Amino acid sequence: MKLNTLLPALLILLAMNSTAQEKMLFSETPEQKEKRLAWWTNDRFGMFIHWGLYALPARHEWVKNREALTDSAYQHYFDYFNPDLYNPREWAKMAKAAGMKYAVITSKHHEGFCLFDSKFTDYKATKTPIGRDLLKEFVEAFRAEGLKIGFYYSLIDWHHPDFTIDRVHPQRAKTDAEYDQLNKGRDMAKYRTYLHNQVRELLTNYGKIDILWLDFSYPGKHGKGHEDWNSVDLIKMVRKLQPGIIVNDRLDLRDYADGGDFVTPEQYKVAEWPTENGRRVPWETCQTFSGSWGYYRDEATWKDVRQLLVLLIESVSKGGNLLLNVGPTGRGKFDARAQSSLNGMGKWMELNSRSIYQCTQAPDEYARPEHSLLTYNPVTKRLYVHLLDYPLQNFTLPGYKGKIKYAQFLHDASEIRFSAPAGHGYKTNGLGSNDLNLSLPVVKPDVEIPVIELMLAD
Ligand code: GLC
Repeated sequence: MKLNTLLPALLILLAMNSTAQEKMLFSETPEQKEKRLAWWTNDRFGMFIHWGLYALPARHEWVKNREALTDSAYQHYFDYFNPDLYNPREWAKMAKAAGMKYAVITSKHHEGFCLFDSKFTDYKATKTPIGRDLLKEFVEAFRAEGLKIGFYYSLIDWHHPDFTIDRVHPQRAKTDAEYDQLNKGRDMAKYRTYLHNQVRELLTNYGKIDILWLDFSYPGKHGKGHEDWNSVDLIKMVRKLQPGIIVNDRLDLRDYADGGDFVTPEQYKVAEWPTENGRRVPWETCQTFSGSWGYYRDEATWKDVRQLLVLLIESVSKGGNLLLNVGPTGRGKFDARAQSSLNGMGKWMELNSRSIYQCTQAPDEYARPEHSLLTYNPVTKRLYVHLLDYPLQNFTLPGYKGKIKYAQFLHDASEIRFSAPAGHGYKTNGLGSNDLNLSLPVVKPDVEIPVIELMLAD
């Protein structure tokens, strides 16, 4: 066949392919979506909270899976769950002091235990010795401190009798025959109804909910994906009950351009602003202070405050958010190590949060100076240079000549003087003719990561 007879067919195929990628569930324009997400892209920094029965074994929230525990072996964590020191107002104050603006808590994690008083199960906090709807108290406390509210809800459920045993289940099998045997009498359709009912409760009984964080899908053999959850109907219900809500991307709805509002790189730093079909997408990285989400007494790989700050700044410098996780103890307190990290971040944020909130990746025309990270506020048109490795007195802003009106340290608003290279391009100091030189004090200011605020020329 000749190319010119093939061509129209090829073009149709290409067009079909691109409409497939752009399949939509909702009729929302990109501008409307941007508006719906505006508070979240503005706020940049949130707290994740993983809290459930696994706080008692205190050796990872996947302990039931890792140790292949049966329901009965896991039962004592339910029987003894009594977080008597739980004071969510205190949690909210700590989140706020760290500079966090929203919080996402596990209403139910993979173990199936519910912090909330669900009509559809007895496997919930109100039936444990604490006997209270812990989620309700959380919502009230965090709202009172002015933080936005998010619910994490596990799609997975290792306790529900109708949830079929799959490859990530604590009772996972070795052979297909074994799976068939184990799943006799289990009915995913019933579980699906339970899941939809619970999500409806969460989005009906607790007032306005700002974020829904569903976790997670693992399609394929002995896995679960959008058909198991009936993700399409689920997300439609969610958006109907809470039209302003923001939903993450773990429903296995990649076929739809709007099957999730933001992508969720977990426990790694993105190399650059993530894109889909060539467009930059909203993103949030979720990260732990140490190597576990749930309280893990003996885990020792805690990141230091500086690493955490770099993580936050770097996320914003690539247009993203950071959701940083605390795993409260079985008594209902934040781990002391988490508290001290939060304090350290708060100390920096108190003076420097202006380089975080409302900020994003800097326009390409501003090159990144040596050993620094840039963020940019498109509203105030200010550029922030985060000095990761405090320089000597002279600091080059490459190609910035004519681009800035004023420079100061952010933490104390003290002026930083700058100059363009003198002479006729004769280099004595390594400056190019379009560079600027900032004169910094030799002694590093007493802030973990000093920030230079640049007022840009119009
Ligand atoms: C993973 C883990 C889970 C944790 C989540 C947070 O999916 O399974 O324990 O809640 O990451 O993103």
